[in-house]
Amino acid sequence: MSMTTAEIRGAFLNYFAANGHQTVATSSLVPTNDPTLLFTNAGMNQFKDVFLGSDKRSYNRAVSSQRCVRAGGKHNDLENVGYTARHHTFFEMLGNFSFGDYFKVDAIKFAWSFLTEELKLPKDKLLVTIYAEDDEAFDIWAKVIGIPEHKIIRIATSDNFWSMGDTGPCGPCSEIFYDHGEHIWGGPPGSPEEDGDRFIEIWNLVFMQFNRQSDGTMEPLPKPSIDTGMGLERISAIMQNVHSNYEIDIFTYLISEAAKIIGTSSLEDKSLRVIADHIRSCSFLVCDGVIPSNEGRGYVLRRIIRRAVRHGNKLGAKDVFFYRLVAALVNQMGEAFPELREQQTLVEKVLKTEEEQFSRTLERGMAILNEELAVLEGDVIPGTVVFKLYDTFGFPADLTNDVAREKGLKIDEEGFAQAMAEQRKRAQQASQFDTDYNEQLKSEQVSTFTGYAQNTSNASVVELFKGSQQVTNLNDGDSGVVILDQTPFYAESGGQAGDSGELTLGSGVFVVSDTVKLGHAIAHVGHMQGSLKLGDVVAASFNPVRREAIKLNHSATHLMHAALKQVLGSHVNQKGSLVTDERLRFDFAHFEGMTKDQISQVEKLVNEQIRANHLLQTKLMNLDDAKAAGAMALFGEKYEEDVRVVSMGEFSMELCGGTHVSSTGDIGLFKILSESGIAAGVRRIEAVTGVGAIDLMQKQFNELSALAGLLKTEPANLSSRIALLLDQNKQFEKELHKLKQQLASSKGNDLLNNVLEINGVKVLAAHLEGVESQALRAMVDEFKNQLGSAVIVLGVAEQDKVSLIAGVSKDLLSKVKAGELVNFVAQQVGGKGGGRPDMAQAGGSQPENLAAAIASVAAWVAKLL
Ligand code: ALA
Repeated sequence: MSMTTAEIRGAFLNYFAANGHQTVATSSLVPTNDPTLLFTNAGMNQFKDVFLGSDKRSYNRAVSSQRCVRAGGKHNDLENVGYTARHHTFFEMLGNFSFGDYFKVDAIKFAWSFLTEELKLPKDKLLVTIYAEDDEAFDIWAKVIGIPEHKIIRIATSDNFWSMGDTGPCGPCSEIFYDHGEHIWGGPPGSPEEDGDRFIEIWNLVFMQFNRQSDGTMEPLPKPSIDTGMGLERISAIMQNVHSNYEIDIFTYLISEAAKIIGTSSLEDKSLRVIADHIRSCSFLVCDGVIPSNEGRGYVLRRIIRRAVRHGNKLGAKDVFFYRLVAALVNQMGEAFPELREQQTLVEKVLKTEEEQFSRTLERGMAILNEELAVLEGDVIPGTVVFKLYDTFGFPADLTNDVAREKGLKIDEEGFAQAMAEQRKRAQQASQFDTDYNEQLKSEQVSTFTGYAQNTSNASVVELFKGSQQVTNLNDGDSGVVILDQTPFYAESGGQAGDSGELTLGSGVFVVSDTVKLGHAIAHVGHMQGSLKLGDVVAASFNPVRREAIKLNHSATHLMHAALKQVLGSHVNQKGSLVTDERLRFDFAHFEGMTKDQISQVEKLVNEQIRANHLLQTKLMNLDDAKAAGAMALFGEKYEEDVRVVSMGEFSMELCGGTHVSSTGDIGLFKILSESGIAAGVRRIEAVTGVGAIDLMQKQFNELSALAGLLKTEPANLSSRIALLLDQNKQFEKELHKLKQQLASSKGNDLLNNVLEINGVKVLAAHLEGVESQALRAMVDEFKNQLGSAVIVLGVAEQDKVSLIAGVSKDLLSKVKAGELVNFVAQQVGGKGGGRPDMAQAGGSQPENLAAAIASVAAWVAKLL
């Protein structure tokens, strides 16, 4: 019985639903609140907290077909895709789950009955493995199901102990294998030939019993539970009587579409498999909000896209091709995953942009790589080469590795990692501000920050630096750093600028120009007026006006971040932020420029939230709780276990240590100044708030009024008025041009009356006025036409500059050379010239001598004729 992939998915969901399981939709590939996971890699991910007992559902049996990506992270199959019959970056996992309800017996019975009764797989083709010590599972398979004992294989390794990650739910498992038949090489699990392709694991039944802690200890789960996973593509291969997953319906279709788009007929080429695999992971990742970038999830996506593009290039793709496969994918999977269909345009745009960017360097990168390979000694590509390809041509290391592997070579991963580390260090050094306090100074002190609530604090001086030297006192005129036991000064972090202000005491004042972190100490940077010593007590007050302006910009940044996600989509993630008293600057992941309309929408949303005047709430929370509550956090950023969460109404919730307004209304007004691209896939917005925004609006309005006044109209009519003026201007220019041409030709007619005849040759030497020098060439041509055999010299003076041109008809070239003639005239007006014998131009700087120079032409020519 052959079934389509869609039918198998349906049959699975129906079977378990009929057996009391709640059908649960697949969750996103980006786990919502699990910092331990890069991508959703198993059906059980979305139920992790249910297994752990910290989340309750209204059901205790569930079934799903979960989309998974195994690229990067604990379960990573990227490098194998294209080399085996069954590895994928993206696949669907069919799974049934019991949360403290049924356990081993029923899990095994369900699986067996689905395979042998629903799918009608021949029993003698199936065999199973169990965890070596799991006698209970052995007995169930042997006695309840009745499998011959030699087909129940005990495996002592971690292969039969499944864990989600380094921490989290885990337990012993039992796997069901399918025997593809003697004609394929391979041995049963546990045998030396187990890596062959004959016996293929199709279903993993995990008996969830423990929660693995980060120190390796196993805590029992509240209740034994069941998690199972069956790769949809594998079971489809069996049901469709094919050996490789790449021969099932979905892949056959994707592969043939890819071949058509690329224009190749080698349907067996492994590159087509790679492309067909990668279009699935890439499309679903973008659909779930991931955008190609240089870090975290975005970088995994970038690596997969680039790998696909390289394989297309290898097949001879002439143009961007990858994104064109999205339609084929939607055709195959859009029904089961409507979200993919809804996001089709976005997915296509993102993939196209990334491919276009990479295509620009791919060819040159490949050329460099091939040159390196040609001279390579040994079979390892040096780390420096891998790095250069990465750094200059955007080749992720695994792409280079992919090429290497095709040629039986390896890359030097360690050397590459080292080159990367060095680059990171250079980048860090380059981004530090002028005086690099963090590099030069070290402090063991811990300062308490009092500045959320206070403007001024009395504090003791606990450490002093003059330049980079630790000292005991600072004297008049010294520049240095003061560290206090507590301070209201905010040290630059999370993009928020450090405070400025003053530390005052009886003997003087330390003027603080900036505040930075030195380890756990807060360092006041500035200069001393008077004197200060260790142990002194100072009144530390930051500049409240500046801080206030910083606060407005910081809170507005949060509102804008949330607004951007609403307007552009959930892929908009913060890439960088700078908040000063003057403005805010925010860098974020997005693949194209924002439209005017999107910019206005963001402005409107933010201003709406400002007017809603939400009270700002800050809460200290456990990191996991904060993330579970939906607080925005930066991926890849290290947070302490307890984090500060800042929320504004329902609109925005972010992890943030910065200082903020008390109510959003304090921000007053928010206005975007500019939106631009700063790197591939990264956009930057600059904006102003409060008084800054009002100043800007007033200035612009005043300018508009002044302009309107000049044009004697109202600001509202300015654009139509200016459009009219520009139109008129164009009209005038046209008329002027026409008039000038008329003038030139009438002058020309006049000039023709002045032509001399010398020895039967027509000679025209004229000093023109009111003619543009650009018109001279055309005039000479015209005169040549009219006069036939002739020598012509024209000169025109414009301000303090002379332009000259000479032309000689062909028949006279043996006697008179235009270049020499023009030079003869030019020398008399302070210039020099030359050119072709039939037409030459020159310039000069003495208009006052032009008339005489022109007059001398006749005699000069006469001598030659
Ligand atoms: N979670 C189990 C697996 O991924 C079923 O194999």
